[in-house]
Amino acid sequence: MNIIDIINKTKRHQELSDEEISWLINAYTSGDIADYQMSSWLMAVCLNGLSERETIIMTKAMRDSGDVLDLSCIGGITADKHSTGGVGDKTSLIIGPAAAACGVYIPKMSGRGLGHTGGTIDKLESINGFQTELSFDKFAEIVGKTGFSIISQSGNLCPADKKIYSLRNASGTVDSIPLICASIMSKKLALNADCILLDVKYGSGAFMKKYEDAVQLGRLMEKVGISAGKKCRAVITDMNSPLGKNIGNALEVREAVEVLQNKSQGRLYELCIELTANILELAGKGELTVCRKAAEEAISSGKALEIFSKTVELQGGDPRIADDVTLLPQAKYSFAVKAPENMRLSAVNSEEIGMTSLILGAGRTEKDDDIDMTAGIVMEHEQGECISEGETIMTLYSSVCSDFSEAAHRAVSALTMERC
Ligand code: URA
Repeated sequence: MNIIDIINKTKRHQELSDEEISWLINAYTSGDIADYQMSSWLMAVCLNGLSERETIIMTKAMRDSGDVLDLSCIGGITADKHSTGGVGDKTSLIIGPAAAACGVYIPKMSGRGLGHTGGTIDKLESINGFQTELSFDKFAEIVGKTGFSIISQSGNLCPADKKIYSLRNASGTVDSIPLICASIMSKKLALNADCILLDVKYGSGAFMKKYEDAVQLGRLMEKVGISAGKKCRAVITDMNSPLGKNIGNALEVREAVEVLQNKSQGRLYELCIELTANILELAGKGELTVCRKAAEEAISSGKALEIFSKTVELQGGDPRIADDVTLLPQAKYSFAVKAPENMRLSAVNSEEIGMTSLILGAGRTEKDDDIDMTAGIVMEHEQGECISEGETIMTLYSSVCSDFSEAAHRAVSALTMERC
């Protein structure tokens, strides 16, 4: 086989055979195909797409480029949840313990934040002492004990994706539905849980700006998961405005704990119940309505909070944060953005809020940048609420930036206000 024929076929809208796709992924991963040739093929995919069959074969070849975990030692039904990312998305910290409280094991590997979106691993590392790099045996042991653990992606999982993803970043070939699908699903299939729930976001703060694209990506990922023998479902959710009121690492852990303490019932809580119920249904725990009740009960009974606290302790973190969120790191500086007149908060643009949080120090522009765990934003009002002149709309926090002028300007540009 040869790479020029493969590039030409995709360029001419001709389908590749299963063997050609597997050869391409293996040869690129082992260094037998040059970056400039692979990026040429990736660009052809961006422009012309791949068929469903080609995407399935590509995903499986990427999965098989490294280890595929054997979770059978956990001894029960396992489920994985993936969100395509957004602003203020701390759902994994709530859904994991809630589903575990209902008898489904949640072994989860997560990533770090980049750009305007946050990452679960960064959020967890804001808890004093919390270890996100554990051996597979330790990870499986914690999941077996509490039902839930989250670690960073480690070991030899999907080396093909690592190489292809960084090449896509450097060659303007990230925004392709089949390539995004293969990248996400190869990692999910390598983790190898029995059930996979995909939370596909659309809107200003999401990868997919358009609802139709999120639907297309979600359907394709479902087909890939099912073809690999998984119970797999995609739900499409709104990321036009941030999820919940806190954005930033320690601030998001704080809000997740407040939901687990049953103190917060807004859009974040509702979404967590819905996603947990979908996991439970996929795992065979009954009809969706029964599973919703079970998810609500997991939180109202305090069982999910107890599981969260035990997992934090077993991963080396301070479990007292489950009772007292003030033990989470606090910012040195804060700044209140006030309403200049009586107004209604009609929209909050999540991408702009994510960028504000980045300016405050909560995120990274480059992969290896340091981040300020205490930085971020607390939205003091929900979308649609009326705010009186002089009232605080949002509070900005940082320990690295004491001059809030740029961040405040950016934050205000995220808001659409109407007189009321
Ligand atoms: N997340 C991934 O892991 N891969 C992509 O291609 C996009 C988002």
